[in-house]
Amino acid sequence: METAEIRRRWLEFFEQKDHAVVPSASLLSDDPTLLFTVAGMVPFIPYFTGQQTPPWRRATSVQKCVRTLDIEEVGKTTRHGTFFQMNGNFSFGDYFKSEAIAYAWEFVTGSQQEGCLGFDPDSIWVTVLDGDDEAARIWQQEVGLPPERIQRRGLADNYWHTGVAGPGGPCSEIYVDRGPEHGQEGGPAVDEDRYLEIWNLVFMQEELTEVRSKTDFDVAGELPKKNIDTGMGLERVAYLLQGVDNLYEIDEIYPVIEAAEELSGRRYGAQEGDDVRFRVVADHVRTALMLINDGVTPGNEGRGYVLRRLLRRAVRSMRLLGVTEPALPRLLPVSRDVMAKSYPELVSGWSRISQIAYAEEEAFRRTLSAGTSILDAAVRQARESGRAQLAGDQAFTLHDTYGFPIDLTLEMAAENGLTVDEGGFRRLMAEQRERAKADARAKKSRHGDTSVYRQVADALGRQVEFTGYDEVASEGRVAGLLLDGTVVPTAQAGQEIELVLDRTPFYAEGGGQLPDGGTVRLAGGAVVEVYDVQSPITGLIVHRARVLSGEVGTGEQAHGEVDVARRRSISRAHTATHMVHKAIREALGDTATQAGSENAPGRFRFDFNATQALPPSVMRDVEARVNALLMDDLPVRAEVMSQQQAREAGAMALFGEKYGDQVRVVSVGEWAHELCGGTHARRSGQLGLVKLLGESSIGSGVRRVEALVGTDAYDFLAREHAIVGQLSEVLKARPEELPERIDGILSRLKEAEREIAAARQQQVLGAAATLAQQTRDVAGVSLLTHDAGDGVGGDDLRHLVTDLRARLGAERPAVVAVTGAAKGRPVVVVATNETARAAGLKAGSLVKVAAGVLGGGGGGKDDLAQGGGQDPSRTSEALAAVEHAVAETAGGR
Ligand code: SER
Repeated sequence: METAEIRRRWLEFFEQKDHAVVPSASLLSDDPTLLFTVAGMVPFIPYFTGQQTPPWRRATSVQKCVRTLDIEEVGKTTRHGTFFQMNGNFSFGDYFKSEAIAYAWEFVTGSQQEGCLGFDPDSIWVTVLDGDDEAARIWQQEVGLPPERIQRRGLADNYWHTGVAGPGGPCSEIYVDRGPEHGQEGGPAVDEDRYLEIWNLVFMQEELTEVRSKTDFDVAGELPKKNIDTGMGLERVAYLLQGVDNLYEIDEIYPVIEAAEELSGRRYGAQEGDDVRFRVVADHVRTALMLINDGVTPGNEGRGYVLRRLLRRAVRSMRLLGVTEPALPRLLPVSRDVMAKSYPELVSGWSRISQIAYAEEEAFRRTLSAGTSILDAAVRQARESGRAQLAGDQAFTLHDTYGFPIDLTLEMAAENGLTVDEGGFRRLMAEQRERAKADARAKKSRHGDTSVYRQVADALGRQVEFTGYDEVASEGRVAGLLLDGTVVPTAQAGQEIELVLDRTPFYAEGGGQLPDGGTVRLAGGAVVEVYDVQSPITGLIVHRARVLSGEVGTGEQAHGEVDVARRRSISRAHTATHMVHKAIREALGDTATQAGSENAPGRFRFDFNATQALPPSVMRDVEARVNALLMDDLPVRAEVMSQQQAREAGAMALFGEKYGDQVRVVSVGEWAHELCGGTHARRSGQLGLVKLLGESSIGSGVRRVEALVGTDAYDFLAREHAIVGQLSEVLKARPEELPERIDGILSRLKEAEREIAAARQQQVLGAAATLAQQTRDVAGVSLLTHDAGDGVGGDDLRHLVTDLRARLGAERPAVVAVTGAAKGRPVVVVATNETARAAGLKAGSLVKVAAGVLGGGGGGKDDLAQGGGQDPSRTSEALAAVEHAVAETAGGR
C-alpha cells in the first residue's frame, strides 16, 4: 500500500468519526521552545493547555515532523528518520481512553477492503503505564486482547511530553510483531526491533511546569480537560505494509537510494558500510527538501544549522560513496517527485528550494577543498616531525572551523598512512558539547520564568486587548504588576517594573518590528515611563517600565499613551520594508523570500534569500520603483482573512503559519500583499522618501538590504549633498566634474609614485659597483651579502641581485643574497651563477634557509629565488644563515 494511500485512509477514517481534517502545520513550530514541530500535537498545544479555545472538539491531521536528536542513528537502525509524518487524532475534552483505544483497534485490525490497515489481530501487542489499570482493563475487556500481550512499563516508555514545560500524560503504545526472524520472543519489553511500535495513544491530562528529562519532571496539576493525542508513524506503517525491511526502503524514500546507486556505481545491499551511507543520503535529502520548503535556509545556528548539517552529511556520504561531482542536482528532484503527491507546493516552490540547496552544496564543496589543503598541511607537518598521527586539536580545528567532519579527516589521514588522535579530538568535542549544553540549560531556565507570566494571564482570564492598530492612547486597567520577576500588588516611584494592562495601545516587539515606547498615567496620579514592550507568552503584552512618580496599584485604571513620533517612524519603516520586499521580488522573482527584518524608527533592514549579490542596477531600479509608488500615495490597509484567501491574493511570507488559521494581510494598494501583524503608515505617501544604503551577504544564500525612510532618508541625502559641496569647493570643480577630477588626481599620484620608485631603484643600483667590492671568499665561493634596509621591496632587490651577480662574473661560483623590507615585512632575494649551481648551490634552497630565520617561507628557481617573513629585525641573522649554508655546501664538496 502506497504511503499516500495510508495517509488518505487515515484522514477518511477519522473524518467519518466526526473529526475535523486539519492540514499539516509548518515544520517551523511557532512555540519558541521547540526548534521544529516534533509531533502531530504541537500545533494544538494551546488547546490542550486551555490557553486557547479549540475551534473543534475532535481533529485529525497528518503532520510533517522533524526530530534531529537521533541524527547519528540514521541509517544504522531500521526506524530512525529525521523527517517523518505523524498521523494523529485528537480530542480536546471530548472522548477519552475508551474511544481512543477502540478507534485505534478498529483502524489497525479492520480489513483493508473497508478502508482500514488489515493487520492480523494476533500480531498486535500493547503497552500501558505501570499503574494505569484503566487502560489495561479497556484493552483486555473492551477490545479482548489477551492479558499476556498487554505489557506494563515505566515512565521512560509510557509517559509522553514534548521535552519542555507543557502538557503531558500516560500513554499506551501499539506494537506489531514482525515475526521470529526479527528477534526474540517476549513482546516490546524485550525486543523493540521485532515488535515495532506503530502508534502511541497519549492520555493528555497533566500540566508539567519543569521537564528535566524523560522521567524527571514536575507535574503542576491536572489540565482543565482530559484530552487525547495520538501519533501513528506513517513511515513505519508503510514499511510494514510494503513488505520492505526498513523505513528507508518505502516508496517515498527508496527512489533516492536508487538515484544514489546510479550516481555512485555502487550497489545498495552489497556492503553494510555503504548501505548506511545510502540511507543517510536518502533520509537527509528528503528532510532538507521539506525544511527548505517550509522556509528554512542554511545557517550557523538554530534551524539553519540543522539544515546545513543535514545537507552536508548527505553530500559527505555521497563523497564517501565515491561521488565527487555535485550530487544534489541528481537526488533532490527525485525526492521532490515522490513527495509532491502529498505536498504539491514542492513543485511550485521548486526553483527557490533547489537554488538554496544547490548553493549550499557548492559552498560545502568549497569548504571541503579549503579543509583539504589544511589537512594536507597537517599531514606534511606530522611527517616532517616524524609523527604517525594527526593531533586531536588539528582534527578539532578542521571540524570546528572548516566544518570538516571527523570521519572524512580519519579517512583522508588513513590514505596518507596516518592515524588521528581520536581520543584528543573527542575530548575537545565533549568540552564543546558541555558548553552547548550549558547554553541550552540557560535558555531553558528563561523559559521556566514564563510561569509567572502565565500566573498573570490566568488571573486576567483572557487575552490582553491590543488597541494599537486604531489608537495611540487607550484606557485600561492594571491586570498585573511584576517586580524582579515576582507578582506584587503595588510599585513605587523609582522602581523598574513589568506592567500588564487589560487593554493597551503599545505594540510588543514582534514580526521584525521594534516595540513602542511611551507613558502610562494611573488614576491615582502615578506616571510610568514605558521603554520596552514584549509578549513572553501568547496573548500577554508586558510593558517594561520605570515608575517616575506616585504609586501604581493592581486593578487601578490606566491611560496608556504611545510615543507617537516613534510609532509613526517605525510604522513608516515597516511599510517601506513591505514595499522593498515586493520590488525585490519583482526584480528577482519569487525565490527572493524574506529571511528576517528589523523595522526601527526611520530605518529598516530586510534579509532575503538570494544566491547572488544584488547588482547596483537592480538596487537602483528597486529604489526608483518604491519611490515612484510613494508618490502614487497608495492606501495601506490590513484585513483578516483565511489562509486560502491570503494565498489567492498572492500574499508574501506565508511561512510558519498554522493552516486553518485566520491571518492578517497588509496590502499596499493592490500591489503588495503580505502576512503581517505589525503597524503601518496609512498611505504610502506618508513615507516621504526611501533611500537604500547598501546590500551585503549575511551568510550562505541570504542577503541584507539596509535603508532609511522619511526624514532620516532626507537627512542622509542632505548630508551627502553637503559633502559634495565641500569637495567641489576644495577641488574647484562643479559636482558633475568631480569623478573625472578625482580620477585625474589619482592617476597623477600613481605616476608620481612610479617615478619615485624608479628613482630609488636607480639609487640602489647606483650603489652596486661599491657593493660588489664587499664580496668575500667563503670556501671558494664568491659570496656577497647585503641588507638594503627598509623601503626596498622585492622588485628593487631582484634588480639589484641580478646586477651584482653579473658583476661577479662566471668563472668562480658566486652567490648574492640581499635583504630588504617593505611595509614592515622582511624580504630576501638570492641569486646564484651557473658555476655555483653546478657546485650544488641553489638559490631556492638558500632562500628557504633565510626565510626560515625571518619566520616565513619562500621559493623559486635554482638561479633566482625570493622569500619573506615576519620579523624585519632578523635580516642580518638570515644573511649569516645563508653564509653558513654556503660554507657547508661548498666546504663539503
Ligand atoms: N505526541 C505523541 C507522540 O509524539 C503522540 O502523538 O508520540
